[in-house]
Amino acid sequence: MGINIALDGPSGAGKSTIARLAAKKLGYLYVDTGAMYRAIAYHMLSIGTDISDEAEVSKGLEGLKVSLKHSDGVQSVLVNDEDVSDKIRTNEVSMAASCVSKYSDVRAFLLDTQRTLAKENNVIMDGRDIGTVVLPDANVKIFLTASAQERANRRFKELQEKGDTHTYEEILADINERDYNDSHREIAPLKQAEDATLIDSTSLSVDEVVDKITELAAKADTKEVKKNEHKHHHRELIPLRPITKTHRINPIRQLLYTIVRVIVRFIFKCWYDLSYEGLENVPRDGGNIFASNHRSYGDPVFIALMTRVPISYMAKEELFKQNIFFTWLIRFWGAFPVVRGTGDTAVIDTSIEKLEMGRNLVIFPEGTRSRDGKVGKGKTGVALVAAVAQTKVIPVGINFDGNKLHRGTKVVVRYGKPIYPSELGVDDTSSQNLKKLKKEIMNSITDLVH
Ligand code: DC
Repeated sequence: MGINIALDGPSGAGKSTIARLAAKKLGYLYVDTGAMYRAIAYHMLSIGTDISDEAEVSKGLEGLKVSLKHSDGVQSVLVNDEDVSDKIRTNEVSMAASCVSKYSDVRAFLLDTQRTLAKENNVIMDGRDIGTVVLPDANVKIFLTASAQERANRRFKELQEKGDTHTYEEILADINERDYNDSHREIAPLKQAEDATLIDSTSLSVDEVVDKITELAAKADTKEVKKNEHKHHHRELIPLRPITKTHRINPIRQLLYTIVRVIVRFIFKCWYDLSYEGLENVPRDGGNIFASNHRSYGDPVFIALMTRVPISYMAKEELFKQNIFFTWLIRFWGAFPVVRGTGDTAVIDTSIEKLEMGRNLVIFPEGTRSRDGKVGKGKTGVALVAAVAQTKVIPVGINFDGNKLHRGTKVVVRYGKPIYPSELGVDDTSSQNLKKLKKEIMNSITDLVH
């Protein structure tokens, strides 16, 4: 989980300006949740939904996709892949957003996306219910407010610059109405979280507020580092067990594997538009780790089709409780069960055993499949196995559009340059070393995903 800053407050308190600047200063991702509600409102208006009818709005959500795109610190909001960022800032959409945001289906629809973003990144997220509902465990919570008159004044000036003809009184009335709507709705109303720091920006400059927030974030960061140091301090270093590369797979097994691999490769190439890059990075021997992003259940197969030596990979224990044929199939393809929650060492032992046997080991450091194709943070396990075994890691990037494979899907598998723990000076399993190795691995995977 990244460092999370929750920034809540009423309309026009300057949250987005401040969050954007603070995010830039801190190198965090800025997530404007209001834009997501606005995007839904815009969509409902454009398809002619009666937004006062909750059931009709719920129906309008079916099949709808709202997502955020970040590039160079700028957030764009997409509705069914169409960038609507420029169309959601009108007064009409503001009022409609305030209306649709009171519906439970609308809130539930966005919650998952918001939490996933916070889990995978250091974020500053602004909205109304971030500290109370979306991220109740946020490291820093801020409630930013200003008097209604001051907020109306700021908005009036902003709109005037754009040539808008609304009067100050109209804007103040709108702000009062939205304040009332946002704080009197039944679900997730605008409310200061008990543990939030209140900042009244009526007489503060933007820079002053940004400084206050970055100060609070710095404190939270130090606290988090200390917490982690404390946790790791008590963890004993796992002794290294460098593997020898003298083991060879049983020749009959190797032959069978090669035959199946060639057949499956042929089938996969007919079924998908499959191509490989960086094949020169795939070692001819075994005992290596392939660390890949995780997009589909086909990933172990995609990776294995180009490795001469059979692979092994960890799979949830539940997968082995399906039917016999499936169990046989995934076992043949190298899966071994991992019982979750048994601690590091059991998994490490099995992994080292597989590498010692001369197999290659495939690890998906993110743990779970990524639905949007973005590479997540990654767990330290991959670095731990590589460090203990003192063996090289070949980063892999699996690329395809959308979130499901279909017949004819263009799939590009890229193998990157091998990463050697010893070259990075990783000669024990201290947390600094594992962090360093993991970072290198995740960066390399990310570079291969585009
Ligand atoms: O922050 P904004 O003005 O762009 O938000 C638009 C509307 O969305 C606002 O009237 C309330 C609603 N909203 C919400 O209910 N919860 C959030 N976390 C963010 C916004």
